[in-house]
Amino acid sequence: MRILFYGDIVGKIGREAIKASLPSLVRSKGVDFVIANGENATHGKGLNEGHYHQLVSYGVDCLTLGNHWHSKPVIDEYIDEAEHLVRPLNLIDCHHGLGSVSYDVDGVEIRVTNVMGQAFMKETVSSPNEAMEKLLSEIDPCIHIVDFHADSTSEKEVFAYLIDGRVSAVVGTHTHVQTNDARILEGGTAYISDVGMCGAADGVIGFEKHSVINKVVYGQKGIFEIDDDAQPMVNAVIIDIDDSTYRATSIRTVNLLENKR
Ligand SMILES: [Fe+2]
Ligand SMILES: [Fe+2]
Repeated sequence: MRILFYGDIVGKIGREAIKASLPSLVRSKGVDFVIANGENATHGKGLNEGHYHQLVSYGVDCLTLGNHWHSKPVIDEYIDEAEHLVRPLNLIDCHHGLGSVSYDVDGVEIRVTNVMGQAFMKETVSSPNEAMEKLLSEIDPCIHIVDFHADSTSEKEVFAYLIDGRVSAVVGTHTHVQTNDARILEGGTAYISDVGMCGAADGVIGFEKHSVINKVVYGQKGIFEIDDDAQPMVNAVIIDIDDSTYRATSIRTVNLLENKR
């Protein structure tokens, strides 16, 4: 099974980068299943229903989320019916959506789980390690891709080594910067600390650099803006998984600059 996993989609330019890159990547690389982190897809924060359906129509089979999962509260109104959407597993007292979802891909089960880290994150969640151990005690083995949405590379490595050999892949998201440490761990779990992002290349983690400087350095009010006319960048990984052992056999990074509109 060959899986394409896109990093955090940031705004319209990120969604357009998915639309532009997905068909050719799927065709040229022989991809069977596409996962993308959608926590920043709607104007940089959250995911509204229209953009959820838009990304699914572009060919994304499963969208994961992160600390911005509820930045568009309308998600409460559609997530229970959104079968292509997985929210963080270790939210406290959340009654909407699922943190782990299983898909049938030509008779092969692929499970996608989204977990949030705790280090340097403002949001309060339960222990990702305990939540993952509990989930693994409740499910049957299958191809299992885990999006670990966290800030700290060491927290991500601890989490991955804890469950090495018990899931097919741990793909880090949230920092929006692709790391150069993609590898297969000893037990057969594919790993990367952060897959990166899909959005404007020449900015601060997808946001227009001057709007970020004005706010962070000079304390001006306003929002982080997104330049939809900037150079679009696509960060992803392609992971190969043995259908019988559920172990990964390779993980390759994808780092593309799409044509400007
Ligand atoms: Fe993000
Ligand atoms: Fe995030």
